[in-house]
Amino acid sequence: MKGRDLLSIDDLAPEELRSLLADARAVKSDPASFGDRLHGARVALIFEKPSTRTRVSFESAVVSMGGHAIVLRGDELQLGRGETIEDTGKVLSRYVDAIVIRTFGQDRLEALAQAAEVPVVNALSDQEHPCQALADLQTIIEHRGDPAGKVITYIGDGNNVAHSLMLGGVMLGAHVRVATPAEYEPVETVVMRCEQIARGTGGSIEVTHDPHRAADGATVLYTDVWASMGQEAEAEEKKKVFTDYRIDSAILARAASDAIVLHCLPAHRGEEISAEVIDGPQSVVWDEAENRMHAQKALLAQILAD
Ligand code: CP
Ligand code: NVA
Repeated sequence: MKGRDLLSIDDLAPEELRSLLADARAVKSDPASFGDRLHGARVALIFEKPSTRTRVSFESAVVSMGGHAIVLRGDELQLGRGETIEDTGKVLSRYVDAIVIRTFGQDRLEALAQAAEVPVVNALSDQEHPCQALADLQTIIEHRGDPAGKVITYIGDGNNVAHSLMLGGVMLGAHVRVATPAEYEPVETVVMRCEQIARGTGGSIEVTHDPHRAADGATVLYTDVWASMGQEAEAEEKKKVFTDYRIDSAILARAASDAIVLHCLPAHRGEEISAEVIDGPQSVVWDEAENRMHAQKALLAQILAD
């Protein structure tokens, strides 16, 4: 993957995704073996939205592989005063070896990648969260083995996290079910792309409005916040529309008896997930959060190392 961008999880072929996940597992079990992979590499981390996990896991990943991370808030850059994303990309390319960015529209990300001469990684956009999907799939493999043929059920908002999970899941041959309220379904083009990928991998994609049936027999239950960053004005309305789209004990009881529960975090207990589930024995959210760092180490090493 040397020199490549990662704007969508769909930028990877299924075998590239499997290779990244194998490396993520390897770096987790033997971090020292990746200790110098980014020797001297400079990585800019731009955040136009808040972040805890992505910021710290990327910074830690870069530093622990011998690189140097430069964390930049969008509002502290000239970006915040109207400099274009293209000009920012051209200039940063003269200083750093890669740009990781959390931003709004996918078009903004694509404009940056087009203008930049160095690889660009999507650290969350309105459309996708591919680094999250890498960690999610790593966590599923770690706890339940190969996702091929297994049911991964996402309940909640058809958002960025859902899109990347859907794409990554079908790439690995999983049966992905997504249950959302009407009008909050995943984007149609992403669903269609999942159908296309699934035809080649033996996986499947199903979008429904019934969270109970979607949970039946699932190996993995997944949820995310009802109102994403940038949707603060819709948060109160969404609380009413989404009340049935919560992972609680009743939903969990419909899944496989050994089902695992994932959430990308940050979580809102009592909204998209109940406290007893996220803090209960089937929750693997802390491993999932940890795996962000390992998966991103694997990704950066493949993009940047010689
Ligand atoms: N899951 C995730 O991306 O978390 P942050 O918003 O804290 O980075
Ligand atoms: N869907 C959420 C994910 C946060 C990590 C958001 O975009 O805010």
